[in-house]
Amino acid sequence: MSRILHVTYKESKVSRHPEPYCTFTQNHKQMMEIRKQNCMTMKITYYKKPVFIHQGYMQWLWDVDGKRYLDLFAGVATVSVGHCHPKVTAATQRQLKKLWHTTNIYIHPELHEYCDKLASYLPDPLKVIYLTNSGSEANELAMLMARLHTGNFDIITFRGSYHGGSQQTMGLTLTWFLPNKQTMCPDVFRGPWGGSYCRDSPVQTIRECSCAQANKHYIEQLEETFATSAPSQIAAFFGEPIQGMGGAVQYPKNYLKEAYKLVRQTGGICIADEVQTGFGRTGSHFWGFQGHDVIPDMVTMAKGIGNGFPVGAVVTTPEIAVSFVKASHFNTFGGNPLACAVASSVLDTIREDSTQQNSLHVGTYLMTQMAKLRDKYEVIGDVRGKGLQIGMEMVKDKGSREPLPPEAMSEILEDVKDTGVLIGKGGVHGQTFRIQPPMCITREDVDFFLAVFNKAISGYTDRK
Ligand SMILES: Cc1ncc(COP(=O)(O)O)c(C=O)c1O
Repeated sequence: MSRILHVTYKESKVSRHPEPYCTFTQNHKQMMEIRKQNCMTMKITYYKKPVFIHQGYMQWLWDVDGKRYLDLFAGVATVSVGHCHPKVTAATQRQLKKLWHTTNIYIHPELHEYCDKLASYLPDPLKVIYLTNSGSEANELAMLMARLHTGNFDIITFRGSYHGGSQQTMGLTLTWFLPNKQTMCPDVFRGPWGGSYCRDSPVQTIRECSCAQANKHYIEQLEETFATSAPSQIAAFFGEPIQGMGGAVQYPKNYLKEAYKLVRQTGGICIADEVQTGFGRTGSHFWGFQGHDVIPDMVTMAKGIGNGFPVGAVVTTPEIAVSFVKASHFNTFGGNPLACAVASSVLDTIREDSTQQNSLHVGTYLMTQMAKLRDKYEVIGDVRGKGLQIGMEMVKDKGSREPLPPEAMSEILEDVKDTGVLIGKGGVHGQTFRIQPPMCITREDVDFFLAVFNKAISGYTDRK
């Protein structure tokens, strides 16, 4: 059965014609064959009918056939200020003509200017910066630093988290390999406890219960982990301020504050993984941890820091940095002039374009409108998030909160894509749609998306 959706969209002021696509791989079948035979970076594609992306501008992407998509997933929460943002592109071009690469055994201005600038966005005592090429590399370095500083080995993280694809970071992660010590994720929608005022979001869960109790119970779970699964001294606790790949899961208010206290009592340091939540994405603050009223001992970042250019960073305190001197550390590309020029321009653009404020206003609008769809449809169990880090958790029904099966999720995702919008998926069961767009999207884009999503869900509900 054909499931073509018809949703019209009022043209925004930003309308651009893509350059025609013209290379030897003009044929979709040929590209898929190359992917299968020679290009194993990822075996799967997101869609049954994959998208062949060719060009981007701000919140828009065009495929090789010239079809335009509203990009609400930003290459997995990575394009922060907009695809090919003109200011960042111009800064990159200037640097490309000047100096691409030299290593950090020399003093080059871009690195020092950038570190000085980035440090000004962080509270005391988080002032010492190490630049890397990715989030995994940043987290890997953070683990090493934590172990050297504390003299302890064990690291605790949440079930459902994702901290990277390197061997050590996979040990911290989700349903992947090499489990390290994981504690219960204090998920106020799906977890055993949670209620209607628990989280810092414009939209609360549909559950009714005592929120103070929920936080207490989740903290008891962490205490239980310390008592039963970890040695008396640990190296670190890793936590995303809002889980990204886990499906925009938010913890009860005060949870991180109390968890940090417990971790520090065991000699461990607290690490905030801001790879997805940093650079204004949560709207109310520049960093996700600020929304929890905590100051970590270390912050790791990537993705939005470079608007799609590979950059990452670890920021820590002078005291921890001193302990790291014990290790020999060298990184060929980390902090190279090009990366620093891009990242520096991203920081300027966030300020000049009021990106963080846009994230707050447009994100809040999206969530509050989406909550109306949650009330309308049995299969939308939860809407949550902050700023433009948003999750919609899909369920079989609100009573059971059982995850909507993968085939149904794929069907909806495909319909939304066919109507011209790209969104993401996450959650331990793949049950949560994720919205983490370039932070330049407008309310008009949101209205278009809501119409598309409404159509896709009503289509799914009718077919069921
Ligand atoms: C929270 C978080 N941390 C770390 C990483 C790893 O970053 P990268 O893919 O740049 O290595 C990711 C990637 O998705 C992430 O979402």
